[in-house]
Amino acid sequence: MTEEVLITEEQIRKRVDELGAQITKDYEGKSLLLIGILKGSVPFMADLMRRIDTDVEIDFMSVSSYGSTTTSSGVVRILKDLDHSIEGKNVLIVEDIVDSGLTLSYLKEHLLRRKPASLKVCTFLDKPSRRKVDFTPDYCGFEVEDKFIVGYGLDFDQKYRQLPYISWIKE
Ligand code: IMP
Ligand code: MG
Repeated sequence: MTEEVLITEEQIRKRVDELGAQITKDYEGKSLLLIGILKGSVPFMADLMRRIDTDVEIDFMSVSSYGSTTTSSGVVRILKDLDHSIEGKNVLIVEDIVDSGLTLSYLKEHLLRRKPASLKVCTFLDKPSRRKVDFTPDYCGFEVEDKFIVGYGLDFDQKYRQLPYISWIKE
């Protein structure tokens, strides 16, 4: 069972509106390619893209750290690659949460080799206290404390992704 609600649907809606407005401003007059990291980013991606008022394309990637434990191992595997080239494009990676930072620092380095015009990261949640490598997202919805978070795309053993709010579970 999940513990108390940490971030309500209303808080999520308000913050995603703000992020969308900020991104719209920052990319004014430019086209933008959003890359959603499956599966956790799905609800955030769906909400965020509808709040961005510039030319937007989307693509998805699926990555995995080995094992299905609640701690990330740091080894990143690409399970599903992008459908299209990102060369010369303004790319914004859309992620559910930054924890150790290993996944996104690996992914950023990897995608930079494909020569995008720009590459930034927008994460819905950030757990800065858990960092193992130096990594700062360009956009962040909320900072959270060191709890195992579920809901709004985030899972525990593939469950709870459908919750419309953010909660946590005791491991
Ligand atoms: P990192 O590489 O340690 O930053 O881990 C990032 C990935 O681990 C995220 O994309 C999530 O899939 C997963 N993760 C990290 N913390 C949590 C959490 O609290 N709840 C659910 N998934 C998490
Ligand atoms: Mg993830």
